[in-house]
Amino acid sequence: MEAVTPREVSVQDEAVDKSTFKKCNQIAFYRRQKLLHPGKSSYRALLESVTLSDENVKFQIIHEENKVLLQVEICEIEGNIFRLKIDEASPLRARYKVRDVLIKEPTTQRLFISQNEGGILVLSSVNEDYKLQVIANPFQVELQSKGETILSMNSNGLLYFEHLQPPPSDRYTVAFARLFLFMQETQEDLGLWQEKFGSFLDIKAHGPSSVGVDFSLRGYDHVYGIPQHTEGLLLKNTSDGDAYRLYNLDIFGHKIHDKIGIYGSVPLLLAHKPNRTSGIFWLNSSETLVDISTKAVAEHGLSGSAAETAKQKAVPLTDVRWMSESGIIDVFLLMGPTAFDVFKQFAQLTGTQALPPLFSLGYHQCRWNYEDEQDVKAVDAGFDEHDIPYDVIWLDIEHTDGKRYFTWDKKKFQNPRKMQEHLRKKKRKLVIIVDPHIKVDPKYTLYSQAKDKGYFVKDRNGQDFEGICWPGSSCYLDFTNPEVRKWYADQFAFKTYKGSTNILFVWNDMNEPSVFKGAELTMQKDAVHYNNWEHREVHNLYGFYQQMATAEGLIKRSSGKERPFVLTRSFFAGSQKYGAVWTGDNTADWSYLKISIPMLLTNSMAGISFCGADVGGFIGDPEPELLVRWYQAGAYQPFFRGHSNMESKRREPWLFGEKNTQIIREAIKERYVLLPYLYTLFYRAHTAAEPVMRPLWVEFPGNIETFGVENEYMLGNALLVHPVTEKDAKAVSVLLPGSAEVRMNIYTVTFQTILPWLCFLQIPVFQRGGTVIPLKTTAGKSTEWMVDTSYELHVALDTEASAIGELYLDDGHSFQYLHKKQFLYRKFTFHKSILSSSCRDESGQYQTMCVVERVIVLGFGHQPTFVTACSKGNELTSVLLQYFEIPLPCCHLLQVAN
Ligand code: NOJ
Repeated sequence: MEAVTPREVSVQDEAVDKSTFKKCNQIAFYRRQKLLHPGKSSYRALLESVTLSDENVKFQIIHEENKVLLQVEICEIEGNIFRLKIDEASPLRARYKVRDVLIKEPTTQRLFISQNEGGILVLSSVNEDYKLQVIANPFQVELQSKGETILSMNSNGLLYFEHLQPPPSDRYTVAFARLFLFMQETQEDLGLWQEKFGSFLDIKAHGPSSVGVDFSLRGYDHVYGIPQHTEGLLLKNTSDGDAYRLYNLDIFGHKIHDKIGIYGSVPLLLAHKPNRTSGIFWLNSSETLVDISTKAVAEHGLSGSAAETAKQKAVPLTDVRWMSESGIIDVFLLMGPTAFDVFKQFAQLTGTQALPPLFSLGYHQCRWNYEDEQDVKAVDAGFDEHDIPYDVIWLDIEHTDGKRYFTWDKKKFQNPRKMQEHLRKKKRKLVIIVDPHIKVDPKYTLYSQAKDKGYFVKDRNGQDFEGICWPGSSCYLDFTNPEVRKWYADQFAFKTYKGSTNILFVWNDMNEPSVFKGAELTMQKDAVHYNNWEHREVHNLYGFYQQMATAEGLIKRSSGKERPFVLTRSFFAGSQKYGAVWTGDNTADWSYLKISIPMLLTNSMAGISFCGADVGGFIGDPEPELLVRWYQAGAYQPFFRGHSNMESKRREPWLFGEKNTQIIREAIKERYVLLPYLYTLFYRAHTAAEPVMRPLWVEFPGNIETFGVENEYMLGNALLVHPVTEKDAKAVSVLLPGSAEVRMNIYTVTFQTILPWLCFLQIPVFQRGGTVIPLKTTAGKSTEWMVDTSYELHVALDTEASAIGELYLDDGHSFQYLHKKQFLYRKFTFHKSILSSSCRDESGQYQTMCVVERVIVLGFGHQPTFVTACSKGNELTSVLLQYFEIPLPCCHLLQVAN
């Protein structure tokens, strides 16, 4: 089959209506699990079977009706994490356990048995801060911290575990054939051995295998996380058939405020109450549904007399029910107690955000498609002509020879190397798209090699799985196989990938994987991967593995020296280690601009700091005002890329009149000036798992008013950003929680107003009192043009007239910061009218000619009478300070007197 043309694409797009995708109650395992209602669990723990080792505590539980035994394993992991695993005690065959997501086997701490009698097992942690109470009948587990119950598992009795069974044909003799046929009908309805959806039939070779359990979070009524959905920040109560779905799907023109899964999944949920945050990480890569229900209950449960109960104070309680199609129950309870602790705990398990090369924090210009080399050069020149900084131009699928990735359309891109040399001279980069589907074409080396080596995912009959995607008939590389990943990584070697240079970076798209005309436009669940695992087991990991292999390829081509940049559409827990994600095909509409904020905040809380949404909206044509507002919003979001669909009109920033060009230019320049702060935040994300973009409640955890705020957010701890997302806005109401938690104010700010104690720009951005942020004094044509540009510090004083902040810098592209400790990490403190700069990390060393040229102190109250600079011993850095542009000698301390 020939490549799918744009016309066919749009025909296909039109066909993408809601009925293409399942509603929850069309999912067989969900229907089966929902037959189990809250109540007494059928499971009983056999506490006489308890065994204790240095690593864990093990015991069995039994299902009272079917008598199947399950093995429970509990362990404590260093740093306030508990892990609970439930698997079959003797499964018919091994059940799938997620690989490659945990960065290492977690270090466990010994638990102690402090009681095992009367049907209760009590396990204590080394420091005795935590107690796990296992109640035998009905089986449930309660986790307490210093006597306070934080959460319980199976307290609603929803533990559900389908044990593997032999196929019906083995179990029924011919004599029962008739009965069996009748049963097949019934089973089909329950989706046990096969499940129909429209014309698609999913044959379940290993039968039903779903798992699920409930958790009750005591005292919590604010829950967050489990991306990716087009939903608000706070998770909503679900009703029947309305669960949050974690199933990576390519939904073109997806609606907003929908709980269907789009593109990526991170099964991490966070719960917050004043001054305590907890997390539940459900490590399962099969299709997963999450039910949420928040209610108020009496303080000590509902037992006791009615009069007693009435006297008891009502406390909120959130029930979270996880249901997965297969695998085992492997859940991590992240005990915080702060949100930052939960972020660290999750990172301890799945890794931190990769430190992006600096260029990738600049502005990216993308379109489906930049047509040819002339187009690329013209767009590149346009940025210079209009004095707009940018770092990267992107090429979408049309740059290839018939959608054969790693090739070039020879007519349109006759000399890709030369084109890259041109960009290199301009100190800019190129990103090209590499999708996971491979055109079926024996003359295409990538296809024939992969075919010969048996590197494609197979269908249930053992043939290479074939589906339709951009190139027409395609096979899909099996990235779950380490050998395939290695081979794929090698494809990025400069000598193999003809026409590539070291300024070329990669975009992985369509990796849910997207299969046109497939069930729910993705791969059949009964397709077969490496080691015979069905696709249903690993579905949500497919994109994760492609990005992993791509990032490895880019590192490898540089002999391990250079940091990669890989953008992926599909992701899973841990994808942060490999690069950036974006929110996929959004629409050029105000509502999509607005929803991008909670969506990005949710991804950020789930470990993926490097995230962004297509600026302008991918589908359709934004009106100029929307485009301008989107640029202003995007300038303060981690990944900043303008992108548009093939059918959208051209959208380069200078096409909307001088006035709009001017505002977009300013927004992009603000971004470039802010890069030292942003890069420092990424270093914190990389080393300390602090999300770059964070909800207000994370910074103000005791302030209930902030818990549901999703129209503004914090960029690091210092900047509060309130993007304008309303058409014709003349003013915005901004919630300012106040420096040092002393005030909570709602300001209505009219554009152009300058508030006395805050830095207010055309984009509503406020600096928090008590912080220092580093900036560049001016924007350059791209990040590389700004290497020698001086710094500027913005010091915003708190009520004590103090402030602190930091600056991280390195060469911006290599791993020398890691291997050779070539970095500079400075701390700035303003206290008692003295600004001092000290070393934040003695182990780092990096030479820079850059100076701090200007210091702006906000909130000083009045003009200082004099400013002096002093040095201290030999601790001088190359920092040069200026105050209000008064040149000062090389110094370490700056004194501002009143
Ligand atoms: C779908 C992606 O989401 C979009 O960004 C891209 O332009 C098209 N695929 C074509 O590659």
